[in-house]
Amino acid sequence: MQLDPSVVLVSGGAGYIGSHAVHVLKTAGFTPVVIDSLVNGNLWATRGASAFRKGDIGDAGFVRTVCDEFRPVAALHFAAFIEVGESVKAPEKYFMNNREKARVFFDTLAGKGVRNVVFSSTAAVYGEVTESAPIREDRPTRPVNPYGQSKLDAETHLRSITGVNSVALRYFNVAGAEPDAGLGEAHFPETHLIPRIVLPLIDAPEAVQSALGLATGFKIFGTDYPTRDGTAVRDYIHVMDLADAHVRALRYLLEGGKTDVFNLGSGAGYSVKEIVEAARTTLKRSDFKPGVELRREGDPATLIADSTKARDILSWRPERGVEHMIDSAAAWHRSPTYTDTILKKATIASS
Ligand SMILES: NC(=O)c1ccc[n+]([C@@H]2O[C@H](COP(=O)([O-])OP(=O)(O)OC[C@H]3O[C@@H](n4cnc5c(N)ncnc54)[C@H](O)[C@@H]3O)[C@@H](O)[C@H]2O)c1
Repeated sequence: MQLDPSVVLVSGGAGYIGSHAVHVLKTAGFTPVVIDSLVNGNLWATRGASAFRKGDIGDAGFVRTVCDEFRPVAALHFAAFIEVGESVKAPEKYFMNNREKARVFFDTLAGKGVRNVVFSSTAAVYGEVTESAPIREDRPTRPVNPYGQSKLDAETHLRSITGVNSVALRYFNVAGAEPDAGLGEAHFPETHLIPRIVLPLIDAPEAVQSALGLATGFKIFGTDYPTRDGTAVRDYIHVMDLADAHVRALRYLLEGGKTDVFNLGSGAGYSVKEIVEAARTTLKRSDFKPGVELRREGDPATLIADSTKARDILSWRPERGVEHMIDSAAAWHRSPTYTDTILKKATIASS
C-alpha cells in the first residue's frame, strides 16, 4: 500500500494535548486524521482535524479500516487514561486501555506499514524521585502506580516492534491553552494545578467550580520542602510547546531518525508559590491568598526534567513561560465551550 507522506494518524486527538497537536500539525502542512472513542474527549476538539473517525484504538478492524482509507505515514499516540489516583483504585482499567489496547494499536499500525510512531509518555515512568537534580532519560524507570507502569509497558512494547521507529516523549506537567483556536483543557475531574488555581480566580460559574470540587478554595500542600521557597517544585510546559515537540519528533522520524526517548520540560521548574505569584500578577488578583495544608504523603520536593537531549537532537526549546500558561488558560476557561463541556460532563457523571 502506497502511504501518503502528509497524513498523520492522531489517536486521542479529541483530548487536551492531542487536539493542540492536531492544530500545530495542520499549521505545519500535515494532514492530521483523528481517531478517538470520545470516552473522555470532546467532538468540538476535533474540528481542526482533516478528518475524524470515532472508534477505539483496541479495535484492530477499525484501525485497519482507517489506515486503508487514509494511508497514514505516521501516527501520534495520545489515547490513554490519565488519572494517577484512579489508576491506583482501578488498575485493570489502566492496564487494559493504556497497555493492552496500545499494543493492539501499535501492532495493527505495523501490519499496515505505519513505521513511524510518536508516543505520549510521562514522567510517571520514573517513579519515586528523591533527588532534586533534573531527571535525565537514562534514569532507571521504576513506576510506583499503575498509570506509570501501563505507560512504561506500552513504551517498551512499541520499542520492541521490528521495523517500527518510534519516539517516546516523556512529559511532566502540561498547562495552558490555545483559545484563539478554540482549544484548551476540559478534564473532568480536573486534578491539574493551573486550572485549579485559575478557575476560582476568574470567578468561573459556581456550578463549574462546585462540579470540580473547587468551592473550598486553593490550598498549598507543604511549605517546608527543601526548595528555594519551601513549596514543591514542578516542571510545567505550555501545551503548544509540547505540540511543537511532537511535530519535531515526527519530522525526526520521517527524516530517518532512530528510536529514542526524550524528556520534555522547562528544565528549571516552578514552585507552587511561584505559580501562585504568577497567577496573582497575570490575573490582577493581589487579593489571592491560598490556604496552607501539611505535605501530602509521597509528593516529592522537586520534579524537573533535563531536556538537554530534546534540545540537542530535536532542536526543541519551550518558548512560553508560566504567565502565558496562566493567561491562555484563563481565556480558555472563560469560554462558553469550556463551561458547557464541564456542566455536561457533571450531569452525565451524576446521572
Ligand atoms: N495531561 C498531562 O499533564 C500529561 C502529562 C504526561 C503525559 N500525558 C499523556 O498525554 C496523553 C494525552 O493526555 P491528555 O491530557 O490530552 O488526556 P485526555 O484525556 O484529554 O485525552 C485522551 C484522549 O484519548 C481518548 N481515548 C482514551 N482511550 C481511548 C481508546 N481506547 N480509544 C480511543 N480513544 C481513546 C479520550 O477520549 C481522550 O480524547 C496521554 O497519553 C497521557 O498519558 C499527559
